[in-house]
Amino acid sequence: MLSDHVEANMRNWDERVEDHLVAYNASAFVRNPSAVWAGVEAKLLAPFLPNGSFVGVDMVHLQCHIGLDTLSFARRGANIVGTDLSREAIRAAVDLAERAGLPNATFVQCANEDAPDLLGRSFDVVFTSVGVLTWLSDLDPWAQSIHRLLRPGGVFLVYDGHPMMNVMEYERDDGKLVVGEPYFHSTSPIRFDDGVTYASDTRMANSVTYQWPHDLAVIFGSLLGAGLEIEAFDEHQAMPWKALPNLEPTDAGWVLPGTSPKIPLMFSIVAGDLTRSCPVRRVLSRSVGLANIQKRRLLGRADQVKSERLGSIAMINQRGRLGRVGYETVIKAAELDLMSSVTRRDGLRVKTLLHQDFVEIGRSGRLWDREELVRALIQEDIDESPVVDEWAFVALSRNLVLVTYLVCGFPNDSRHASIWDISVEPPVMRFHQGTPVTQAVVERSVGRRRM
Ligand SMILES: C[S@@+](CC[C@H](N)C(=O)[O-])C[C@H]1O[C@@H](n2cnc3c(N)ncnc32)[C@H](O)[C@@H]1O
Repeated sequence: MLSDHVEANMRNWDERVEDHLVAYNASAFVRNPSAVWAGVEAKLLAPFLPNGSFVGVDMVHLQCHIGLDTLSFARRGANIVGTDLSREAIRAAVDLAERAGLPNATFVQCANEDAPDLLGRSFDVVFTSVGVLTWLSDLDPWAQSIHRLLRPGGVFLVYDGHPMMNVMEYERDDGKLVVGEPYFHSTSPIRFDDGVTYASDTRMANSVTYQWPHDLAVIFGSLLGAGLEIEAFDEHQAMPWKALPNLEPTDAGWVLPGTSPKIPLMFSIVAGDLTRSCPVRRVLSRSVGLANIQKRRLLGRADQVKSERLGSIAMINQRGRLGRVGYETVIKAAELDLMSSVTRRDGLRVKTLLHQDFVEIGRSGRLWDREELVRALIQEDIDESPVVDEWAFVALSRNLVLVTYLVCGFPNDSRHASIWDISVEPPVMRFHQGTPVTQAVVERSVGRRRM
């Protein structure tokens, strides 16, 4: 039985469908086989998939609306089911899938809570994004459904409007960010009557909606309470729709103007049940997944790092709670990230890890700056999972940390030294040098744990 509030929301969503098919130019989308949307979601999920690929991955997309993002993942090669409570949205999505010739995308009309029983199976990836949580009165059943829908070791992504952005007044023309709505979760919904849908200026007969605020603690709490573990959390400065009046369009999405103080507009959480293992995770070991798995494990293993006390940095920890993580752990994770082939092919990601005046002394003695190294890594053809050991950390000054470690493979054994600048968050690598070691040296270290 749907509550009166949800019934009203469904009348609203059913009515929006015809208008959204036009506003999103759905006909052009189905006609163009290379049209793929949900790029941010794909980028956030890719590091958790074998070789970052969606081909053959079993996915479910909750609150899929008319299914254009769902179809985008079908075009990336996933087998995907979209679910939504709106009958009209699902009717439109089924029609679009047929017209696009994508039998690997199917759609089921249902509430999130009913999806596990109705679908009757589990998935490698569960995701939901862009304007979803505010329609749910209670996140606990939502999170429990996600846990049930996830195959052991599967990955969940939510990418949605940030609760901080949601509290800002919309009806302003002075460009100011003013808090006008409650931040904290409430079981009583807020009534809205905008008269139009966000995608166009069409007047609506069923214009009243009810939406629920959910603060970050409630969002994290629901996922943790359902037995999920947080693997990644981020806050984004660009968003895919114009949710505040003074946002400006950029290639990355809508952003606050340069003159405005910045607040997070979107957030993303990747979660999973890491206590269970499944095939899709096991094959991660030769891709960027290794770095992620190492990162995750490292959060609980700082005691294995030989170091002087270096202080700590505020981060979401292994249990998904905000806490302080030692610089050893943060730097070690960043070093491992830099060894992942997926990261090395992502020039922007590499740049965020390197100081703008970064210098590397290569094996040949050549000096590399940041731009040269980024260009070289993109062209590199290495897809190895290195074994890394003998980590040591020394604080050279308040802001600089010397890190040394031994790498086996990748492609040859080598001993490395980096200097990290910890005056910025996250820290950046200022200097790096790797020196080949002889087999004799490596063998003395064999028997060490593989990470
Ligand atoms: C903003 S749309 C999601 C848009 C989608 N991400 C896209 O880009 O097309 C929100 C969707 O949530 C669905 N919805 C609202 N309340 C729901 C509920 N209680 N259970 C399931 N779906 C719901 C609506 O029908 C609507 O299609």
